[in-house]
Amino acid sequence: MNVLVTGGAGFIGSHTCVELLENGHDVIIVDNFSNSKQICVERIEQIAGKKVQLYSIDIRDRAALSRVFEENSVDCVIHFAGYKAVGESVKLPLKYYQNNITGTITLLEVMEQYGCRMMVFSSSATVYGPENPIPYVETMKTNEATNPYGWTKVMIEQILRDLSAAQPAWSIALLRYFNPIGAHPSGLIGEDPQGIPNNLVPYIAKVATGELESLGVFGNDYDTPDGTGVRDYIHVVDLAAGHVKALDYAARHKGVLEVNLGTGRGSSVLEILHAYERACGHELAYQIKPRRAGDLPAFYADTTKAKELLGWEARFTIEEMCRDSWNFVKRQMEEAE
Ligand code: NAD
Ligand code: UD1
Repeated sequence: MNVLVTGGAGFIGSHTCVELLENGHDVIIVDNFSNSKQICVERIEQIAGKKVQLYSIDIRDRAALSRVFEENSVDCVIHFAGYKAVGESVKLPLKYYQNNITGTITLLEVMEQYGCRMMVFSSSATVYGPENPIPYVETMKTNEATNPYGWTKVMIEQILRDLSAAQPAWSIALLRYFNPIGAHPSGLIGEDPQGIPNNLVPYIAKVATGELESLGVFGNDYDTPDGTGVRDYIHVVDLAAGHVKALDYAARHKGVLEVNLGTGRGSSVLEILHAYERACGHELAYQIKPRRAGDLPAFYADTTKAKELLGWEARFTIEEMCRDSWNFVKRQMEEAE
């Protein structure tokens, strides 16, 4: 298929482009590089040994986006483009609603105009909100986010369900990611956030390189085995493979599919820290800090639906996730020297 990937130069998008190319699809990337670098596109091509088409545009630029559809026969869109920093979304809600919601609506209108009615969307486990019991199952209510970023995911899911109800020709997959970490085993692409990271593994990586002194562990008094927060960390390469499976599914089914992409296993902050120590070969300093506002004690996925409907299951362990993250980070550091 001819797959248009919005945000294809980003962390999850780049790994998905590799997986698409390796599975025989053609890829068109649309990215404004607000949170990624152009070199990433060359690296996707290097890993897959195939070229992609690149449009350096903003998905909110309707005229530019229309030209992409004019110049290509797009079969499907995988939609990653958007902002994702939870803390920033609380401070700058309009920035998030503008980019995530307006961007998605513009994209859907252009798709509709060109008769392209297949979309795979990057949703998040955050749509399950603070009240659902774990593990999260797709049939649970998803109408209570805790921050503007989370609300954009809840709202876009609803927009896509409404669109499908009105226009049954659409095929839509809402992929609810748990906590993607790791990097491509080649070390060529991975997660490279600017500034001080908010998320756990990028922060640990900077402690491992010596850029940051020690990890602040946000709370050790949760009702979890070691008192620290538990999450369902998933290797980004497994997540990328889930997109190819979702695309195959969407090509065969109309309507909306909601599906969790996680491993079904929870790991604590300290378990991840120790796995990273084994990956980088030295101890990493940490300090116990107060709980972070808005954090839940523990959540992980029920993965039954992904197994049954997509024939997809995560393969990588947290050891492998930390190994591949470190491999990427070390390589970046060496290249910068
Ligand atoms: P990322 O920031 O690395 O990738 C997003 C890409 O979209 C970037 O390359 C950015 O430059 C581009 N972009 C942003 N706004 C754009 C616009 N208006 N026009 C064109 N390009 C634009 O993020 P990621 O971690 O790869 O996440 C991808 C998607 O998955 C996002 O929608 C995110 O909300 C969702 N998601 C991510 C996580 C996670 O932990 N990383 C978890 C759940 C859901
Ligand atoms: C967060 C977002 C979620 C988003 C995801 C990916 C919140 C409430 N949730 O998930 O919506 O989809 O990022 O962008 O912000 N931790 C530390 N020290 C740190 C960083 C994190 O102890 O310096 C702990 C956290 O308390 C948590 C775990 O590590 O228990 C994972 O945190 P993080 O990587 O930020 O992901 P989430 O909070 O699960």
